[in-house]
Amino acid sequence: MQKKGPIGIFDSGYGGLTIFDKIQKRMPEYDYLYLGDNARAPYGTRSFDTVYRFTRQAVIKLFDAGCPLVILACNTASAKALRTIQQKDLPLLDPSRRVLGVIRPTVEKIDSLSKSKHIGILGTAGTISSGSYSIEIAKMFPHIHVVGEACPMWVPLVENNEYNSPGADYFVKKHIEHILSVDPEIDTLVLGCTHYPLLTGKIKKYLPDNVTLFSQGEHVAISLEEYLTRHPEMDERLIKNEECHFLTTESPEKFSETASVFLNRNINVEKVTID
Ligand code: DGL
Repeated sequence: MQKKGPIGIFDSGYGGLTIFDKIQKRMPEYDYLYLGDNARAPYGTRSFDTVYRFTRQAVIKLFDAGCPLVILACNTASAKALRTIQQKDLPLLDPSRRVLGVIRPTVEKIDSLSKSKHIGILGTAGTISSGSYSIEIAKMFPHIHVVGEACPMWVPLVENNEYNSPGADYFVKKHIEHILSVDPEIDTLVLGCTHYPLLTGKIKKYLPDNVTLFSQGEHVAISLEEYLTRHPEMDERLIKNEECHFLTTESPEKFSETASVFLNRNINVEKVTID
């Protein structure tokens, strides 16, 4: 019998905690192991090769820690590394384990949200330049018109706890106004970066009433629950003791402090190296 393990959740840093929070609230019975590569974050401005190499190392770390299933709770890693890891690395590392991302579950919901069928994606430079959202949406819903907007300052605003500051207003307003000027028919804006839910209050301030903001966490959680229902063989390999552990490649004290902003509770964190 295969050894049981926790669900692994990976992000470049803190952002994936917004996804982890929704997953854990929906499925509290499972064990989780969260890994944030804070020492090398942000990933959003890094090349395809670098994001792939870092993400592959993180997945191997979570596999070594016993996770049968790993969620890339980072849009940038999902956009730039997921496909190669699934197709090239998994067959060699361990074909019985699984690595899933956040873009597909988000895209699956998109058609039902938009009336105008004009959608805007807000993301890191890496996610937007990869074209991953446009490609996935074109495959599933070819009638939907997609515009991407890279918002490179938004992650640093959140990481530095400045997301409620007047400085944040400038950068939020700039990108919201720009994307809506590129396509005024947009009626749905997707938060295509795990950090962005913390900017929701600011973003809504600059949104016209007819534009809806779509946050992916809830849908990633629903999609994971459905996946485990469809795959009882994977579900049986997951520990259900309601335990969560957190790993970071940077300072555990700093991670614990910032994570409390994302999760509204205190956590214990362990430092690891993954290169
Ligand atoms: N969490 C990443 C994402 O969802 C953004 C943070 C980063 O740039 O590392 O795209």
